[in-house]
Amino acid sequence: MSQLKVVSEQHTTDESFLNDVLDGLSQQQKSLPCKYFYDDRGAALFEQITALSEYYVTRTELAILEQYSHDIAKMLPENLSIIEPGCGSGKKVAYLLAHLANVKTFVPFEISKEMLNYSLAHLSPLFPELVISPLLGDFTHSQMVKQLAKDTALDNQTNLVYFPGSTLGNFAPIKAIEIMKNFHRLCGLNGYVLIGIDLVKERQVLLDAYDDKAEVTAQFNKNLLQRINNELNGTFNLSGFNHQSRFNEQHSRIEMHLVSQCEQSVVINNHLFEFAQGESIHTENSHKYTVDSFAQLAEQANLTLAHTWQDCNNYFALCLLRPQN
Ligand code: AVI
Repeated sequence: MSQLKVVSEQHTTDESFLNDVLDGLSQQQKSLPCKYFYDDRGAALFEQITALSEYYVTRTELAILEQYSHDIAKMLPENLSIIEPGCGSGKKVAYLLAHLANVKTFVPFEISKEMLNYSLAHLSPLFPELVISPLLGDFTHSQMVKQLAKDTALDNQTNLVYFPGSTLGNFAPIKAIEIMKNFHRLCGLNGYVLIGIDLVKERQVLLDAYDDKAEVTAQFNKNLLQRINNELNGTFNLSGFNHQSRFNEQHSRIEMHLVSQCEQSVVINNHLFEFAQGESIHTENSHKYTVDSFAQLAEQANLTLAHTWQDCNNYFALCLLRPQN
């Protein structure tokens, strides 16, 4: 039976949630970190988003995997270990595992113990021969990744680090580079990094993907306020805020905001926050790249773009990167 290797305490404690919320709402442009979207209801709403007609991201990435899995396999050596940082339920990697021969080991790397157990329970029956070695920890934390790569000797073998879903786009460029440096470390000797990125496209397609007609994304966004009410004694009136998606040309990113519909005040754990009518809370960034802008970003993490696979609309790209040693 696989064991969970604990490399850190879960870092999203109530205390850091409270501190992050108080800090974000004290800025001139009020903001909340998007990592807090994913409580049970937020995770369920995100699952619904991935099936929306407007949200092309998930189905497009899966179609690319479906179409090019043999080509991807041809570019990889046999007896690889696959590491998936932030693997969630492990559904996407199942797709990849089904198409790649001779994968020796799968290392799901997650901050949530529940998700690790879930991915273990989901993948073990599907791939009985596969050794699954879960790691509990935070892939965005460089010191931790360094220690982990050493402790597990992952840095002494050849691995594929798999990071699908365009999750990298939710991080600011400086953090995205730091995370890719962590992947460089984890992919080991002459290894491979496979990252899914969302590409720049027609503005309206992007805006609709983050503001669907059924208003699932609006519920997903507002659920963050509900979570603050539930967990931090907040007094947000959810109907006093409207969901909005904006395209920020300068930073090439979709931004999600919650816009206050009136002048109002909110108390969170005895701290008072005032909102003017029309004032927004910035809740998420989702960066959109060109293949060139992504290659330049990856270069700053000493990773070179070796190959990309794209859909026929050029909406999304799966990018294979190799470390510069
Ligand atoms: C998880 N992440 C890649 C999603 C995205 O597209 O940026 C989160 C999301 N936010 C609203 N819709 C989806």
